[in-house]
Amino acid sequence: KIHLKDYKPSSFDVETVDLDIKLFDEHAIVDSTLVMQRQTEGDLVLYGEALELMSIKLNDEPLARNRYTQSEGTLTITDAPENTKLQLQVRIHPHTNTALEGLYIAGSGDDTMFVTQCEPEGFRKIIFYPDRPDVLAVFTTRLEADKRFPTLLSNGNLLEAGEVADVPERHYAIWQDPTNKPSYLFACVIADLDVLTDSYTTSEGRDVLLEVYAKSADIDKCAVGMQALKDSMQWDEVNYGRAYDLDRYMIVAVSQFNMGAMENKGLNIFNTACVLSSPETTTDSRSFSVKSIIAHEYFHNWTGNRITCRDWFQLCLKEGFTVYRDQSFSADQQSSAVQRIDDVATLRAHQFAEDAGPLAHPVRPESFVEINNFYTTTVYEKGAEIVRMIANTLGPDNFRKGTDEYFRRYDGQAVTVEDFLSALSITDSKIEDFIDWYRQPGTPVVSGHQDYDSATQTLTITLSQQTRQVAGFDVPKPLPIPVATALFDKDSGAIVAERMLLLDQATQTFTFENVVSEPVVSLLRDFSAPVQLNYDYQDEDLAFLLKYENNGFNRWQVTQMLVNRILLQGQGAKSSPEVYLQAMAQTLPELAAIDAMLAARLLDIPSAPELASAIHKDYDPELIKAQREGLYQQLAEALKDHWAMLYKQLPMQDYEDSAAARGTRALRNVVLDMALTANIADAAEWAQQQYDNASCMTERFGALKVMVNHQLANADEYLTDFYKRFQHDDLVIDLWFSVQASADMVTPDTIKSLLAHNDFDWNTPNRVRSVISAFTSQPTVLWTQEGLDIYIAVIKKLDDANPVLASRLLQVLARWNTLAEPRRQMAHEQLLELQKQATSKHVIESLNSVLGSAS
Ligand code: ARG
Ligand code: ZN
Repeated sequence: KIHLKDYKPSSFDVETVDLDIKLFDEHAIVDSTLVMQRQTEGDLVLYGEALELMSIKLNDEPLARNRYTQSEGTLTITDAPENTKLQLQVRIHPHTNTALEGLYIAGSGDDTMFVTQCEPEGFRKIIFYPDRPDVLAVFTTRLEADKRFPTLLSNGNLLEAGEVADVPERHYAIWQDPTNKPSYLFACVIADLDVLTDSYTTSEGRDVLLEVYAKSADIDKCAVGMQALKDSMQWDEVNYGRAYDLDRYMIVAVSQFNMGAMENKGLNIFNTACVLSSPETTTDSRSFSVKSIIAHEYFHNWTGNRITCRDWFQLCLKEGFTVYRDQSFSADQQSSAVQRIDDVATLRAHQFAEDAGPLAHPVRPESFVEINNFYTTTVYEKGAEIVRMIANTLGPDNFRKGTDEYFRRYDGQAVTVEDFLSALSITDSKIEDFIDWYRQPGTPVVSGHQDYDSATQTLTITLSQQTRQVAGFDVPKPLPIPVATALFDKDSGAIVAERMLLLDQATQTFTFENVVSEPVVSLLRDFSAPVQLNYDYQDEDLAFLLKYENNGFNRWQVTQMLVNRILLQGQGAKSSPEVYLQAMAQTLPELAAIDAMLAARLLDIPSAPELASAIHKDYDPELIKAQREGLYQQLAEALKDHWAMLYKQLPMQDYEDSAAARGTRALRNVVLDMALTANIADAAEWAQQQYDNASCMTERFGALKVMVNHQLANADEYLTDFYKRFQHDDLVIDLWFSVQASADMVTPDTIKSLLAHNDFDWNTPNRVRSVISAFTSQPTVLWTQEGLDIYIAVIKKLDDANPVLASRLLQVLARWNTLAEPRRQMAHEQLLELQKQATSKHVIESLNSVLGSAS
């Protein structure tokens, strides 16, 4: 186990790295020359995994066998001189690398390609190296391969390319990256790809060549990503004063990838699902996320690449800030209220659940066995919320002064969260207090009530905060919690006062003077802090806010509070649905005409897993499912008279990628589902017509989904049609798998037959997730003996082959402990059984945490 408190700088600095990667039919030979300089006392430690060491030279002399030791994962040279040139040759096996880390094979047949994933510790699967983010070097990379692979790419600038002397079937390319960078940002690609080309001139006058590489069948799906890249480049110049710094920016699409994408310097590698987009094959929500992931990876060029992390404990330094930046970018591309709704919904569904269970950890963890296990929603999304709180506390001008200072001070360095806070606090030293948000796990609960004194016309709001103590951590301290607050006049619905309250003690009171009558208080507007709010609202207050709040996010937030009160009966909630249903009936039809996207969101009812995350004991999946479906039914019936009219008001049109058109499509899909739920006679016909006449995937897939979930008579026919239409498009076939695996009526047998389908592929994480992750949306089936048998067998199967993926799938089971018996006991036994067989340190570490037996 590695601890943050044990950090020591590397004993050697690397000045330059020269790589020569020769790919052959069954293996690759990698030669490396490292020019290094001693920095501190101590051994020279190089990390290496699954490398066959062929030769080793130090300062041009073969290194005697007794001058170095090789043990599991390291190569140590004890008496390396001040100036050391190390030349190593290793043999590696990309063709059988299924872990998708280091240099690995992706695709098959004519689509075979070789790509790298080095973050966090994949570079050590390519050569022996001081593979840690605080060692920065200049890389020159020669790639050599058969001409069957015409595409040879690496970071930086292309210096040279040509044929290999005397070997007519082979060629090479030499790339050099002038940036001093850590090894986790190294990348190379050996493939046969098409390219979409464009250009961008930066605010500093640099002409940048932009390239998106994909296999030829996919090249017509790269335009959305290309446009998003140009938009991102401009956005970073305008909003942060950051321009791109190389002459070339490349993006490569690969179908086998563990995560979304990777920000390698000048050579991003993307999961096809996160870069390819076309109206016919990609839903609006997926297409929108393509844009935000392109932005995310681009923004890393400054927040991550030019300023990087001192060690992996600081992962949130680059990820939290970069997620905040991509969220802000996306908010500028659509309604900022809807963007905030989507970001908060994700945070509440996943991060709050993580923080409430056995995998809870601080945004900056203090120890780990396997860093891959910490690419979590806590590090990413809660990390982004902390930056957002800081930005809101400072206001735009001072936040910009702070980020300018951060870039000025730390450009080219590997730094810490403390460094980040110290730069941001140049205009306000209180910003340093936010450090506790990085250190303390658990979601704070903010409780409160109000007292109104009509004699003195004062309103007093009392707020208190509490965070659960997580085992192994100190008693939680009060955190600085910004609570955005507005007072609404009960008669007119107008705002009479607006203030940012800073709750930074256990309990505090806040007084508002000259308040002429008791107002309705709107709290935590725009979700000003990542906390759970328990305010003693009457349902009527929330219904009032649904009507009068002037910000779409806040309106959504009150609908969610009402829904949670109704659905979590027995968990301390106490409301009946009448107030909610009436408020929705009054609000929705009118809103639908003005802002269809927001209207679609207001009809949200949290998913079953999200509701479960609020239950800490005796969770009964059947009960939650029944309550959830019951409320959905009531909502559909309460607005029954409106669905037909709404559906007609939202006609299908030629495809257009505007916010308004996306809103129309989103709402139409929700209305279709509602109409079927309310048993409207024509609705089955609408669904078929929508499918048959669809102008885009959002329409077609929306229709297919309701046909499957409502078990319409010809749903199977349509599933078959969908499969036939798109059988050559992997990403669409992923949708085909997932719509079945997540269906309301899914059975273990369905899941088994999907896993046995000809197109199922264990080596493609997207495909595995399209069945297995989709399945987790049905907890009543997942949490059964048969459901768990299937799920855990998948983890066992992937444990060796792809431990990063196996461990992530396992983490979803973290809250087994909250289940009601007999499910709890059953899940426990299955997890204990898995523990006996687990082999990867990824899965073992996650299991130990999930079982509460932390190592
Ligand atoms: N830095 C990447 C991103 O956030 C994530 C890559 C993580 N990969 C991994 N195997 N853990 O964009
Ligand atoms: Zn990132």
